[in-house]
Amino acid sequence: MGIANNRLSYEAQTMMSKRHMERAKQVMPGGMTANIKHFEPYPIAIKRAHGSRLFDVDGHEYIDYLMGYGALMLGHGHEEVKSAIQQQIEQDGTWLFGTPHEKEAAFAERLLRYFPSMESVRYTNSGTEANLLALRLAMAHTGKYKIAKFEGHYHGAIDSLLISVSPNEQDAGTAHEPNRVADSYGMDELAMQNTFVLPFNQYEHCEKILTEHAAEIGALIVEPLEAGIIAPTNDFLQKLHTLTKKLNIVLIFDEVKTGFRTGMGGVQNLYNVEPDLTTMGKVVGGGFPFGVVGGKQEIMGRTSPLAGFDFFADQDQTDRKQLALFHSGTYNGHPLVLAAGLATLDVLEEEMSDLLIRTEQFKSELEAVFKKHSLPMKAVGIGSLFSVLFTNKESLSNYRCFEHVDKKLRTEMDRALFQEGIYVKPGNRYSMSVAHDDEAIEKTIMAYEKVVPTLFPSND
Ligand SMILES: Cc1ncc(COP(=O)(O)O)c(C=O)c1O
Repeated sequence: MGIANNRLSYEAQTMMSKRHMERAKQVMPGGMTANIKHFEPYPIAIKRAHGSRLFDVDGHEYIDYLMGYGALMLGHGHEEVKSAIQQQIEQDGTWLFGTPHEKEAAFAERLLRYFPSMESVRYTNSGTEANLLALRLAMAHTGKYKIAKFEGHYHGAIDSLLISVSPNEQDAGTAHEPNRVADSYGMDELAMQNTFVLPFNQYEHCEKILTEHAAEIGALIVEPLEAGIIAPTNDFLQKLHTLTKKLNIVLIFDEVKTGFRTGMGGVQNLYNVEPDLTTMGKVVGGGFPFGVVGGKQEIMGRTSPLAGFDFFADQDQTDRKQLALFHSGTYNGHPLVLAAGLATLDVLEEEMSDLLIRTEQFKSELEAVFKKHSLPMKAVGIGSLFSVLFTNKESLSNYRCFEHVDKKLRTEMDRALFQEGIYVKPGNRYSMSVAHDDEAIEKTIMAYEKVVPTLFPSND
């Protein structure tokens, strides 16, 4: 089954989506509100969703493994979340107070219970915003204004972090000391120069770069599972923790993808490492726009309006000597978002272990389909996030290993699966939810059974 043939069927199957995209292109660049939604030749447009299912504008039903890029861990339209939102609106009478309210502290108490590294938290409206705040906190705390990040790690559209997320082979530089490569036009040159790029799972090389520039680097930010799926090896995270302590660098775990994906306490709980700061988003907001920064009181406390002058907080403008670290936002701590988040955490407490077990079984069953045909596929990931990767490599340790992964074949498979009613954005991770029941999984395995032999005709 070739891509060209697939494409014909894709267009036949998605005429209304095509029409929608043509309309959208007239009024939005590329027809998009976020470039991540784009894929070739055009993405499907969705009309409604329920549980594990998406229904597109052409009237087709799909089992959804994208799940809002991992945000919807309860699936679409979960009843508990729905009723928490309804209750917020009907009993409490509004969806925005603009003042402190009870859910703000209640939610923080819950997070502190799951994440022992957190002594205090602040809310934002996205993972990107959470990382912006975390960087500023680290800089204020250390008085050092450069940053270190890892090649292949995404932290949102921030000039100093949108660097070497996806560099091509020619630009990337050496594997042990990667180049800084911009991932967007229009980035601040200075921000670029202020960021060091490190190789994940290569402790000695990280140690060298961080030690050489310790006088300038105030923050080290890491996705503790690279790209949400690749595990740290040989005490890598523990060693980074010890080193950053020694060098007075604030260690930030970006758990926006992984926050509740490996269990209730994040990747840090799994590997028993307490970062100075943690950022979260996606799952923790129950599918609404949300972000969290949490961490040590001595760092978090810098945002307090009791700790210094803040022009929004202080009426008396005369005493401006000591500034607080500015953090505000009209929608921070939005009642509807916190209601959805709390309901999500309630359900996850009940369902987490079942979901983790079900995901492991699903991964083994998928791998078994390929094994039957002696084909190299690995379902790589920990917890309820994983990716289907075509590679002969025994293990994947960082971004450079993806050179050995057949991404084109994966896209081709995703297209073929799409025709069988299985949806994931081509090439993306599988994000499991409590709505992926036995029936959905069985149907998916059957689709794989049908599609896999057609992808590797010579092997059969
Ligand atoms: C690890 C990580 N950090 C930060 C972000 C940015 O979060 P948001 O899209 O909510 O701004 C993402 C989004 O995918 C992410 O995966």
